[in-house]
Amino acid sequence: KMFASIANVDFDGVLINASGVHCQTSSELDELLNDEYVAAPVTKSATLNSRDGNPKPSYFEFKDGSINSMGLPNNGFEYYLNYVESHRNNKPIILSIASLSQEECIELLHKVQASDFNGITELNLSCPNVIGKPQVAYDFEATDKILSEVFSFFKKPLGIKLPPYFDLTHFDQIAAVLNQYPLSHVNSVNSIGNGLLVDLATEAPVIKPKGGFGGVGGHNILPTALANVRAFRLRLNQNIKIIGTGGVKTAEDVFAHILCGADLVSIGTELNKQGISLFKDLNEGLIKIMHDKGYNSVDEFRNGLKDI
Ligand code: DHB
Repeated sequence: KMFASIANVDFDGVLINASGVHCQTSSELDELLNDEYVAAPVTKSATLNSRDGNPKPSYFEFKDGSINSMGLPNNGFEYYLNYVESHRNNKPIILSIASLSQEECIELLHKVQASDFNGITELNLSCPNVIGKPQVAYDFEATDKILSEVFSFFKKPLGIKLPPYFDLTHFDQIAAVLNQYPLSHVNSVNSIGNGLLVDLATEAPVIKPKGGFGGVGGHNILPTALANVRAFRLRLNQNIKIIGTGGVKTAEDVFAHILCGADLVSIGTELNKQGISLFKDLNEGLIKIMHDKGYNSVDEFRNGLKDI
């Protein structure tokens, strides 16, 4: 009833974790792998070398939202490659990679290409939290250049994680770039970059790095996330699938993402808040909505947004 496929990979279910949440260590990944309501674990975006991340506090939750400037804390690329290579008989795992330069990105993808991992890799072009490093996917020329080099040698399924866009012409421009390449998927959206939240009592920002600036996530960004999923579904080649990320708190939100065109739906802030029991609740909630509406399968309403 609830299936999805991206490239040559079939998913049993539609719910996954958003990269960054509950996926830095092998024990966290094991928990996702062993949860029947998780269609696929996604690994924490990996850099070539392990990183401690930014000074703390670097994460803060507020009503229906979160702000973070984690700074890519991760155990290093080899750790995650080893994890995905040694868990190939179970469900799919999405390997997320990030990098601090184009050279590092190319080096990492050469390593994936040479490895035994044949699943889906996701290149994160949208991390807002490394000091001095821009969100690559806001630079359409740089994105084109990197993808052109990547696809000259990378032959395995590859998707990209994108930041939110807010202008319809930007959607046209980035989609025109992406449609030139055999991407498995786009994952949309990353957090809304560089928000700022202040604590009235201390008169200081709620997080320490970057003067308090950080990526905003959680239920409050649902309209931006749905708009991005919809805008991409209307513009991208149909063989480029969409992972809808952003704002999901309830089963209604999952339904809305799929209606707008998402193949899989990922959950970050709310997963961090509730823990992995959230996946069972959202799954059961989605089944109930589908039953009430008379749908037997997600395919019956995916990308089915109607005219008002
Ligand atoms: C981090 C945040 C992101 O939004 C992202 O895409 C990658 C890394 C971080 O701060 O760790």
